[in-house]
Order: sequence, then C-alpha cells, then structure tokens
Amino acid sequence: MHHFAYRNGVLHAEDASIEAIAAAVGTPFYCYSAATLRRHVRVFREAFGGLDALVAYSVKANANLAVLKLLANEGAGADVVSGGELRRARAAGVPAARIVFSGVGKTREEMALALDEGIHQFNVESEPELDALNDVAQSKGTKASIAFRVNPDVKAGGHEKISTGKAEDKFGVAWTRARDLYRRAASLPGIAVKGVDLHIGSQIADLAPFEAAFAKVAELVKSLRADGIAIERLDVGGGLGVPYGDAPADPPHPEEYARLIRRIAEPLGVQLICEPGRMIAGNAGVLVARVIYDKEGERRRFLILDAGMNDLIRPALYDAWHDIRPVREPAPDSARTVYDVVGPVCESSDVFARARALPPLRAGDLVAIMTAGAYGAVLSSQYNARPLAPEVLVSGGRFAVTRRRPSFEDMIALETTPDWLNG
Ligand code: LLP
Repeated sequence: MHHFAYRNGVLHAEDASIEAIAAAVGTPFYCYSAATLRRHVRVFREAFGGLDALVAYSVKANANLAVLKLLANEGAGADVVSGGELRRARAAGVPAARIVFSGVGKTREEMALALDEGIHQFNVESEPELDALNDVAQSKGTKASIAFRVNPDVKAGGHEKISTGKAEDKFGVAWTRARDLYRRAASLPGIAVKGVDLHIGSQIADLAPFEAAFAKVAELVKSLRADGIAIERLDVGGGLGVPYGDAPADPPHPEEYARLIRRIAEPLGVQLICEPGRMIAGNAGVLVARVIYDKEGERRRFLILDAGMNDLIRPALYDAWHDIRPVREPAPDSARTVYDVVGPVCESSDVFARARALPPLRAGDLVAIMTAGAYGAVLSSQYNARPLAPEVLVSGGRFAVTRRRPSFEDMIALETTPDWLNG
C-alpha cells in the first residue's frame, strides 16, 4: 500500500502534486511519501505487539538522512553494513542500542567505531572476522555482542544477483560448522554470544523459503541451547518482496510475513530482530523524470528521459521491471504506443523498459518510475558527469528537499589536478 495516486488528473504523492514539486525542484528527482514509510513500520509494530522486538531497518535500501530520521521517530533501529551507514544512522538519531552491524567485510576500524558507539550486535559472517572482533574488543577492554549469520542453504530471492542464502553464496557461516563456531566464540574473552542471525535473499515473493529457513534456524537455537550456549536473540534478516507490477501474483502482505516471524520467534523466548529494507522503502518512493525526446528509430520507438541508469540502475543490473506512469493522468480509453523507455547515458543497457505500451507522451511530459524508493538513490552515481538526482520527502501537502542536486562545483570539489600537469 502506498500514497501515490491521481487526483484531479495529476499524480500526487499524498496531498502534494508531483507536477508542482517538479516545477520547484526540476527533474529528475526522487520523491518519497512519509505516510507510506510510517505505515510500513507500523505493520511490524502492531504484529509484534507484546514481544521484545527490534525492527532494524536495513539502511542500504534508502539511506537518506530524513528517511532514517522519520523511521527512527517511529521507533525503528538500523541494520548497517559499513562505518558510513553506522554514522548515517547515528546522525539521524537512531540509538546505538538499536543498531545491528551486518556484512562480510567489516574492517577493524569499523569494528572499533561500532564498539565505541555501543551497538546492539555484530552479525558475524566468518571465523577470521570473529577473531578480529575478539581482538578489537579485547584491546578496548570490552566484549562484542554477536550473532553468527548462519547460511541455511535455502534458495530464495527474485534474481540470482540478490540471492544470499545458498551454500555457494559468500554470506554467512556454513550451516554444518555453526555449532563448532558457536562453541569457539563462547570461549573467547572479547565475545559475548547473544543470538543467531540469518538473511536468505531479497525480493522474495512467497513465504515458503522464509518458513523453511526459519524452521531450520529454530532447530539450531535449540541445539545450541542444548550445548549450553544461551541464545537470547533471533535476527531473521529481511528479504520480503514488494509488488513491482510485473508478476502474476503479488508477494505476501507484510502482515502475513510478520505473523510468520512471530510464530517462529515467540515459542523460543528470544528477542526478535528483523532487518526489512525494500518492504519499508520500496513503494514509498518514485523517480520522476521528464521526456526529452520521442525518437522514431528504424525498428523501435524510443522515449528518451532525463533520468538514466546512473539514477536508477535496477533495470540495467537486475532486469528489474518498474511501472512507468505519466504524471498527467491519461484518459482511460487513450491509445497506447509501444516505446523503449531509455535514459541519456551512453550505454546500451541504459533502458528502463523495453517494448512498453504507454499512453502517448510528448517531449516535456513528466513520468513517474514507480516503486523506486528502495535501492534507487542509494545505488546512483554521477556517471557521464550527471549530477545525483535530488531527494524530496512529502508529508501530507508539504514537501522538503532532503538531498539537493549537487552543483557542478560540488561535483568536482574532491578532485585536483597536480601542478606538474600545468604547462
Ligand atoms: N539484511 C541483510 C543482511 C541484507 O543483506 C539485506 C539486503 C537486507 C537485510 C534487506 O533486504 P530487503 O528487505 O531489502 O530485501 N540492490 C538489490 C537488493 C540487494 C539486497 C541486499 N541485501 C535490488 O535492488 O533488488
């Protein structure tokens, strides 16, 4: 459920006209709906009522400070995967006690930062990482609270590039080694074993793989307890898909997913942690662009936008399908024209949609690329020396630019030309 809809013939984000925002901000830009973001956190809050639960929003999905602050105000914590994300979460007001740190390549510097901040938990992904963390914690005279991210060897996820829970993936520790590793970790002076963690993939469109993985992990929790290791937390990761509009069936509703998590975690008597990303931010955002040209090619007709793969890379990287809507509501009976919707970047993969039937559009018209709130702006770049698209947050009828478009001077500010190149 999201808050983007036509009103008086114009696409609105909540009560704000996208046309009016475009006039004020210019295109392309990302537009997020505060009400949608809030609603998604509340689904969990309601489903987990009465339990000790931490919704650690996965910052990688959308790391805009205003988005993080809004979610923190709703009581969300953060799942971070770098020192930078940790600092962003802290800068946005997420309490350190609600932060979990995931990722296969944490450096000692990042570990030190996280220990100094006093984060809730490290999700440890390998034995060398465990040893490094033990060292760093000992050198600080403290203990690092950890869970191992165990790899349950379950296939899940919308695209092979976003599947993480199979045995051949780089993530997590092998299922077969988990008990040994836990025993070792429990003997280390710089480590406090707290829980078990998993994450099996992203854009998962049905509950079956979750159910299979959670059931396996619940068994592991029992075995570890039988080994004398006190497991008091279970982190079930993220991964629930959102409807992009291309699949015959929508992914399960977040409420059903949350109920499944509750069903697994409650009998174990653990603190429940989850790390949703896409499910919180995905359909809370759109990328708004303007048509530059309608180009009649030899074989195809191209709609060339002023947004490109540098702004939204998902179609190029994962063959992702995003709905594209004209900002001016088309008449229901308007004719459709088949376009390849492309950007201006000099790469043949700079394509948002191939052979898409759209109402007639002309140069100057605005379009919204839907469901772009997660893994959109965070994955953007300045390729082709294109400025990063600004990000706008709408709440009711208000909007605010929460990341401005960089000026040309901003874009070159980190670069220098050495003196020896002059003359
Ligand atoms: N926790 C961990 C350890 C993760 O690796 C991820 C996502 C999440 C939580 C959040 O997963 P979500 O609820 O958002 O599915 N860029 C890709 C998705 C990459 C996901 C990476 N890990 C895309 O645009 O589809």
